[in-house]
Parts: sequence; C-alpha cells; structure tokens
Amino acid sequence: MPIERLEKYFLWAAGAVLLVFFLTVSVSAFAWGMQLPNPDGRVDPENLTAPFDKPELREIAPGQYEAVLTAQTWAFLPNKLDIPVGSTVTFKITSKDIIHGFEIPGKRANVMIIPGQVSTVTVKFDKPGEFLYICHEYCGIAHHVMFGKITVA
Ligand code: CUA
Repeated sequence: MPIERLEKYFLWAAGAVLLVFFLTVSVSAFAWGMQLPNPDGRVDPENLTAPFDKPELREIAPGQYEAVLTAQTWAFLPNKLDIPVGSTVTFKITSKDIIHGFEIPGKRANVMIIPGQVSTVTVKFDKPGEFLYICHEYCGIAHHVMFGKITVA
C-alpha cells in the first residue's frame, strides 16, 4: 500500500520524538541515577525513627551539613538553620501527615515532601544572606505560613 509523502514525514517525525523521549528517560534513569525511592528511602510517618525522631542540623564533615527536617501541618521542624558561608547542606525531609513541598527560592531546591518517603536535596550556600524554605504545595488553611529560615553568615 503506497504511503503519502507527507504522511511518511509525519511517521518519521513521530518516530524521532519517541526516540528522543526514550533517550531522555534512559539517560536520566541510568546515567544520572534519577529513580523512584527504594525501600531505604521510606519511613513510617506515624512512628518516625532515627534520624527523623530528632530533626536537626548536624555537621557531618568540615563545611558539610546534614539538615534532617520534618514537615507537618503547618510547620517545618526545625524552622531556623544557621550555617557558615561556603557550607554544603544536604536536606533530608519527610512528612508526618500529608503532602507538603520544600522549596528554597533562588536555589536549585524544589522537592515534594510525601509521608512515608524521604526527599533529599543538596544545596551549596556560598554567599552570606538569608533564605527561606517554603512549603509550595497547598496543605490547608495556614499553608502560607509554613516556612523556615536559613541564615548564612
Ligand atoms: Cu505545607 Cu503547604
């Protein structure tokens, strides 16, 4: 059966788009390691164990910090972090109740906070200043006051 010339172009174009999608997914999954959380990244939101039973900022190496945070309606714990200039902070966050969000405007940090799962994001703070971390997922009447502050000095 003969195929119309234009139809042939569209078939090739559709094939090319599929190939691009396939390569995008393959590269992000296998070369960049972007994957769904494995069982190690899960927690019981109703019975949080270490380190989430004591959320805090801790120094794990010179200039390297780990910020263990919990989110709940309508607060982050802790909601104030003080770090020196030049620090790299790995945030590990989970939710105690419903879905929240975590975003640091001006930084590459924007993750969903899902009960039962641990979200991890690493940010370098190389200039002094103040940054907010805000909940960016509507979570109820006081969603807009759910934030914390990072002071870099
Ligand atoms: Cu928590 Cu919006």
